[in-house]
Amino acid sequence: MLDGQHGWAVQKAMELLVAVGECYDAERMVRVSSTHLVAANRAAGRGGIEFIRQIAERGGKFVVPLTTNPSAFDPWQWKEMGFTEEVYGEQMAISGAIARMGGLVCHTCAPYLIGHVPRMGAHVAFGESSVVLYANAVLGSRTNREGGPTALASALTGRTPYYGLHLDEKRHGTLKINVSAHLANDTDFATLGYFAGGIAQDRVPIITGLSSSLSQDELKSLGPPLATKGSVAHYHVVGVTPEAPSEEAASGSKKIGSSDIFEFGPRDLKATEESLSRIGPEKATLVILGCPHPSIGQIMKYAEVLSGRRVKNHVEIWILVSHAIRQYAEDMGYANIIEGSGARLLSNTCPAAMPQEYFDERGFNMIATDSPKTVYYASTAKQALCYYGALEKFIEVVTRK
Ligand code: F3S
Repeated sequence: MLDGQHGWAVQKAMELLVAVGECYDAERMVRVSSTHLVAANRAAGRGGIEFIRQIAERGGKFVVPLTTNPSAFDPWQWKEMGFTEEVYGEQMAISGAIARMGGLVCHTCAPYLIGHVPRMGAHVAFGESSVVLYANAVLGSRTNREGGPTALASALTGRTPYYGLHLDEKRHGTLKINVSAHLANDTDFATLGYFAGGIAQDRVPIITGLSSSLSQDELKSLGPPLATKGSVAHYHVVGVTPEAPSEEAASGSKKIGSSDIFEFGPRDLKATEESLSRIGPEKATLVILGCPHPSIGQIMKYAEVLSGRRVKNHVEIWILVSHAIRQYAEDMGYANIIEGSGARLLSNTCPAAMPQEYFDERGFNMIATDSPKTVYYASTAKQALCYYGALEKFIEVVTRK
């Protein structure tokens, strides 16, 4: 591959992977079974768009399955959303090139809900921190936090450098968080994730004290804030996640010292939740739900709370969703209920991928959400003030009967 015998695109991809591997002292390459790529035009930039187009034009073909993260807009509603032809054209240039190389242009940050489910122990090359966490912790597959170019290179070569979280010893937990707070809903799990991320930073936390019957939605909510407050890429929940049948297995039999053991009690839950709000929900002009993209069960909950209600005139409610789950929502009647309330179901998009001007022009600077990751992006990248809490706590404030 390095010699160019497999073509220019593969040679460039392997040159990049070799350089990364040398950087991290990887002893060799390992085969990957699939990849997930951040492929929004804003993230790629002009240079990135040109690079992807060239790779496709010069014969690049993916040798393992590839899925894509959300783009800047809903491709079925980009005009109604007010995006320009230029932004649309840039995104389509990337999406088109990826599709020509054999990628699945699904634009979702929950690809595991639509069939991209690597098996336990499989090596993969995933970008997008929440997808990385789900793959490592919930599925037990193995990936580092890949950037767009390296995930693309892995899809072209079927390889990734063997270092970091591909190695057994790097996957063991080195600190412990005992949960004594009662977690009543998905948002409480997200709040725990935010708290744990702040403590763990880039280490692997072991979480104890949670019920062994956690749902997929609860785990899906717990993961993303770990990488928002910290830069966690893997975690264990004892008795729940596949590499943690016991605390001993999660830590690789290493003893965790008392200075690395933390408590998450009812006061921590309340204080962490409150720390994420700068405004009351009545101030919000935009509500963002569905970060990360929801399951059909979560869509059902959104439909339940919006049923019989109408979004207030000065407010917009966006529910982000993958297009595949949206299809189910339509089939099951949830889309009708949600859109009948005046809320919008937006497929395949993410506010973090939208340009700042888009928010500025619409005056979206007061945002309510049930996701700490949205709070982070809205308050840092978009300079908005946010309210954070469980859906039931604020939906009545932003809607009427
Ligand atoms: Fe997904 Fe965007 Fe949230 S990628 S996890 S909707 S910030």
